[in-house]
Amino acid sequence: MNPVAVESRLPAAATAAERVPFIRLDSAHPELFAELIEVVERVGRDGAFTLGTEVAEFEQAFADACGAEHGIGVSSGTAALEFALRALGIGPGDEVIVPTYTFIATAEAVSSVGATPVLVDVDPDQALITAPIVEAALSVRTRAVIPVHLFGRTVDLDPILELCRPRGIAVVEDACQAHAARYKGRLVGSLGDAGCFSFYPTKNLGGWGDGGALVTNDSQLAAKVRLLRTHGESPRHNHQIAAGTDRLDGLQAAILNVKLRHLEGWNQARRNAAMKLREGLAGTSVVLPAPAAPDGDHVYHLFVVRSEKRDALREHLDAGGVSSAIHYPTPVHLQPCYSGLGLGPGSLPAAERLAAESCSLPIFPAIEERHIAETVAAVESFGLGADR
Ligand SMILES: Cc1ncc(COP(=O)(O)O)c(C=O)c1O
Repeated sequence: MNPVAVESRLPAAATAAERVPFIRLDSAHPELFAELIEVVERVGRDGAFTLGTEVAEFEQAFADACGAEHGIGVSSGTAALEFALRALGIGPGDEVIVPTYTFIATAEAVSSVGATPVLVDVDPDQALITAPIVEAALSVRTRAVIPVHLFGRTVDLDPILELCRPRGIAVVEDACQAHAARYKGRLVGSLGDAGCFSFYPTKNLGGWGDGGALVTNDSQLAAKVRLLRTHGESPRHNHQIAAGTDRLDGLQAAILNVKLRHLEGWNQARRNAAMKLREGLAGTSVVLPAPAAPDGDHVYHLFVVRSEKRDALREHLDAGGVSSAIHYPTPVHLQPCYSGLGLGPGSLPAAERLAAESCSLPIFPAIEERHIAETVAAVESFGLGADR
């Protein structure tokens, strides 16, 4: 469902040892790596490759970590989103409201079930959707909204829930970048009808390949998703729905069981690193990411600054040995696959501006003081020379 290799989504510059890397994966942490190799060996010996005890254990632990009753392991975050919509009975003729400033998967899930994504702009400061934005896009055909906790910053969800609930409109949280983030003390993913997570290797909780989960407090929805992920089969050799294969692998679950225990600590390390980056970058030419709202959270999956001279800034960072990336250079409504929606350049201006100005700086739990200092110094020196 998501064949893109990890390295192809990472900046090439991240590979050289002396540079400030954009991210570090598990092989850079010898103790954790050794523990993960052990569990891989155990699964290899047990042969519990599809579903099985590792998956069941992870599903329960992850649901608990999200404050939800049910957790269902699936093959990717994209599959989780698609299954949420399918289980809610959304299909052709239905509209689903989606922010245009997100990873393409949020909209793809809507298209996969045959519904129409209604792409909306985002708040220019938060880079997130808000209740007034959603309200302006409602129609008689609106069946669901997918708020995206983009970059790890929580969406102000209560006003969206208050808008949707009385109208019978479902709220499916795309929490693929916000594992264990809190909103008003509650965990994201458990606030709407369903919460969807990705365990793509670079995520705050990442496996060694593709993986995802859906969490929910709705038993019926959970039961439907369990059918959808594995041939609609119940009981054995009886197929209630023509579905397919989109399970979480036993190997991924075993790895995620180990890594889940570190999630809170890693999120805190990300917040600490973000605070230092904020302090260092205050007063430089870049616009800092909106901090967490007083009743919200930010788990800094990404630390995204803005600059009108974004491309020159990235060149300057690269020359100074600091890796960077762009999330996302093209909003969904301007992607070729959505040209049929008829939303041309200029139609959703806040997202288009964010796409043109955003620059993701290195952030990961084990980021070192040196990496932060070098990143700050490189941004500070941008604009002091001929590149201004
Ligand atoms: C916001 C968002 N939604 C959905 C997805 C899809 O997740 P996956 O890559 O596991 O299919 C991702 C992950 O890349 C994401 O960042």
